[in-house]
Amino acid sequence: MKWNNSLAINENWSSPISNQESKQKVAEQVSHFVKDGDIIGVGSGSTSFLALKAIAERVKRGGMNVMAIPTSQEALMNCATFGLKTTTLAGARPDWGFDGADEVDGQNRLIKGRGGALFAEKLVMASAPKTYILVDESKFVETLGQAFAVPVEVDPRAVHLVETTLKRYPVKEVSLRMAESKDGPVITESGNLILDVRFDTISNDMEKELSAIPGVIETGLFIGYSVEIMTV
Ligand code: A5P
Repeated sequence: MKWNNSLAINENWSSPISNQESKQKVAEQVSHFVKDGDIIGVGSGSTSFLALKAIAERVKRGGMNVMAIPTSQEALMNCATFGLKTTTLAGARPDWGFDGADEVDGQNRLIKGRGGALFAEKLVMASAPKTYILVDESKFVETLGQAFAVPVEVDPRAVHLVETTLKRYPVKEVSLRMAESKDGPVITESGNLILDVRFDTISNDMEKELSAIPGVIETGLFIGYSVEIMTV
């Protein structure tokens, strides 16, 4: 048997990164914002991974004292890999943050949550005065929801209740997100399930309305947050 002592250390993203050149450029751009003493919200996904790597290099070169608040187990492990100290929202508020997105429309409305980390991503974004959303050209859409379903994180006990309640909305399709390396559904880091919901139209009120359904923990609609979209 071969033992690897460094299972948590992976300096490369786990699969080929789509549009890597653009993602790398925007990652470099955001890394210029880091300064000594910052507490930074660290997003999840491949673009955030590249940004974290660029920021960590800058922190190391400059001998800066910087803390990260990661939005997922994945981001936490990447912080460890790149040598960034971490804290949590229980102990600190971010000075600023960065994250990726799955879709961005013309009003800076976002769909996030492909990676299943939407709950913590929203907590960190809502706690930061500003979050840079790092996107390549493929993420811009004319109509929100045209390419991606909206993830809705649901307490497992409420999955049928939520599915039924969603019928009030212009829903085209609802599917329970299934795991790829285990049998059965994806279980989020908070122990919940994810319904991926395709809507005909998405109104500004829907983020709050969907969150008010009993059993809904969070949605992947990010509407009206303090974000600045960064692209190349
Ligand atoms: C993670 O849960 C998502 O919200 C990501 O921010 C989003 O999927 C972007 O991913 P990439 O940066 O890998 O394209």
